[in-house]
Amino acid sequence: MRRDGLVRPGRIGAASDWGLRACWILLAGAGLLCVPLLAAQATGGGQTAAPGDFVGAETCATCHEAEAKNFASNPHSKLAKMHSGLTCEACHGAGKAHVDGGGDKSKIFSPASATAKDVDARCLGCHSGKHANFDRSPHAKAGVSCVSCHSVHAAASSEYLLKTAQPALCFQCHTDLQPQFSMPFHHKVNEGLVKCSDCHDPHGTMQGKMLRTTASQNAICTKCHTEKAGPFVYEHPVVKVEGCTSCHTPHGSQNARLLNVSNVNTLCLQCHSTTNASAFPHATSPTGPAHSQVSTEVACTNCHTQIHGSNAEYNFFK
Ligand code: HEC
Ligand code: HEC
Ligand code: HEC
Ligand code: HEC
Ligand code: HEC
Ligand code: HEC
Ligand code: HEC
Ligand code: HEC
Ligand code: HEC
Ligand code: HEC
Repeated sequence: MRRDGLVRPGRIGAASDWGLRACWILLAGAGLLCVPLLAAQATGGGQTAAPGDFVGAETCATCHEAEAKNFASNPHSKLAKMHSGLTCEACHGAGKAHVDGGGDKSKIFSPASATAKDVDARCLGCHSGKHANFDRSPHAKAGVSCVSCHSVHAAASSEYLLKTAQPALCFQCHTDLQPQFSMPFHHKVNEGLVKCSDCHDPHGTMQGKMLRTTASQNAICTKCHTEKAGPFVYEHPVVKVEGCTSCHTPHGSQNARLLNVSNVNTLCLQCHSTTNASAFPHATSPTGPAHSQVSTEVACTNCHTQIHGSNAEYNFFK
């Protein structure tokens, strides 16, 4: 593996004259961590850099006009204020050897040609505060790196520096999911009402499928569908225990209300049935007089209207 000289916390002392303290204060507000102090970042060549190895953005601009030109509108231009003129070299490493070599490619860190791992480490040097789960996410494990989704110099928009806006960005790779969002009933992701990143954090989470949770650690669904969050006096335990997706398909469905099955009664009877008692031993079969063969042809939810939980009635009536 290439040693790109990112500094372990224990080595930071060497760089104290580069304003470690100022760095902490400025970055903390943005949720950033300033572990790889710039002064100690290596050149592309690998040795640890000394302060004199940095040439400053103006020097880079003399040869890289295109990259330097629109950088003022880049959120990373803030780095210049934080680090006395260092913007380019915050990511590319100290540039003196590269400049002295007349643009020697081997002496500068180039995210476009570096491995996914090296790029992620470089970006996470500042961004691991907010994206601490990235390394263990399915994206990182599959080699999908920061620059698969973000572009620093050629972003479609300066907000989030995304290469392409959502959902097109995600569909570039997740093409198999695209038909789900065109089903008769679907979350309006293509229409721009809901974003993939409302439910998923592409930088990884503690949940399976990189699902987000609400601030209260509930399923993300209740962030928007707050009235389903409860707590209710009479809970339908399945809502809390198995979760919303035990009855609903999140992306899209042939069935109204995004239900997993076309017929509500079939859905309920998956659990509330003597024939299925072994699968859901705790769910009672409907046995009372209201459940003659005839009445089960009426939708269960005609009578059990408060299916997500009720404050009034044990059997989820109104
Ligand atoms: C004297 C002119 C000059 C200066 C000053 C200069 N570069 Fe370069 N740089 C070049 C040339 C020429 C290339 C292209 C080399 C090639 O394609 O063979 C290059 C390539 C690069 C690359 C791409 C490397 C690759 O592998 O494709 C990066 C990144 C880069 N420079 C960053 C910087 C940064 C950051 C600075 C300021 C610290 C800087 N350069 C200053 C001339 C310069
Ligand atoms: C936040 C990190 C970051 C900063 C700051 C930054 N760059 Fe880059 N640079 C990148 C990434 C990532 C790439 C790969 C291409 C991309 O994502 O746009 C890149 C690519 C380049 C390239 C090669 C372009 C190519 O076609 O491969 C050059 C040259 C370059 N940067 C110069 C600069 C200069 C000059 C500055 C300062 C004005 C600068 N960079 C600031 C991250 C950064
Ligand atoms: C030296 C520290 C540093 C490095 C390295 C760095 N960033 Fe940043 N990044 C920042 C700062 C500071 C901001 C501006 C934060 C703000 O405005 O709140 C920022 C902003 C961003 C934003 C925009 C956030 C928004 O709200 O629009 C994205 C996206 C981003 N960085 C991605 C990257 C990627 C990808 C890399 C690696 C190629 C990278 N950064 C490397 C410090 C860094
Ligand atoms: C699979 C695509 C993808 C990958 C990989 C990815 N991002 Fe992002 N990133 C996004 C999207 C989409 C957003 C916008 C999120 C939103 O709408 O809330 C974003 C937002 C951000 C932001 C600004 C908002 C915030 O929460 O801080 C930063 C900074 C950022 N990403 C940095 C990174 C870094 C650093 C990496 C690599 C370690 C990375 N991203 C990898 C897709 C990605
Ligand atoms: C560059 C290709 C690429 C892009 C762009 C991309 N992904 Fe992925 N994504 C993958 C790969 C590869 C995996 C891991 C293999 C898999 O599970 O399919 C993955 C996995 C996932 C998973 C976890 C699947 C699981 O079974 O655990 C989710 C969720 C996901 N991506 C959502 C998104 C979202 C949301 C976006 C857009 C913000 C996005 N992806 C953009 C390639 C990509
Ligand atoms: C309303 C919330 C929501 C939205 C919006 C959403 N997802 Fe999902 N997604 C989920 C849930 C919940 C699961 C888990 C399903 C399960 O485990 O049964 C999931 C699963 C996935 C998976 C894993 C594979 C699979 O089919 O189970 C991928 C990949 C994925 N989503 C990508 C995306 C992409 C890309 C977008 C945007 C185009 C998106 N999601 C929009 C909630 C959402
Ligand atoms: C970002 C906000 C948001 C999140 C998060 C969200 N939804 Fe939705 N949901 C909506 C909106 C908006 C609609 C209505 C869209 C429309 O009019 O078609 C909707 C519609 C629905 C419907 C259909 C309602 C009907 O009357 O047909 C169901 C069921 C549903 N969502 C379940 C879920 C589940 C399950 C989750 C979690 C996996 C979830 N939602 C997460 C915003 C959200
Ligand atoms: C036991 C199965 C089941 C579970 C679990 C479940 N739902 Fe439902 N949900 C239904 C049924 C059945 C309907 C349709 C009710 C009707 O047609 O009267 C429905 C309807 C909805 C609707 C649209 C109509 C309305 O009442 O607003 C939304 C939104 C919704 N559910 C969200 C959720 C959320 C969010 C969760 C998780 C907190 C969840 N559901 C868990 C069975 C369930
Ligand atoms: C994934 C399994 C599951 C599904 C699907 C399900 N339930 Fe339940 N339900 C349970 C469990 C477990 C309980 C609590 C144990 C019990 O039956 O008392 C419960 C409790 C109830 C109760 C309260 C009665 C009582 O004795 O506590 C009613 C009424 C009920 N469910 C109706 C329905 C209806 C109507 C549907 C379809 C919209 C449905 N359930 C779908 C698992 C399920
Ligand atoms: C015509 C109205 C009505 C319909 C339709 C209906 N129920 Fe009920 N349900 C009741 C009443 C009333 C009770 C109270 C107990 C009783 O039957 O005496 C009840 C009780 C229950 C109970 C609690 C256990 C019990 O038997 O006491 C469950 C579970 C249940 N219903 C599930 C279902 C399911 C599943 C369906 C659809 C297949 C359904 N119900 C359709 C009216 C109805």
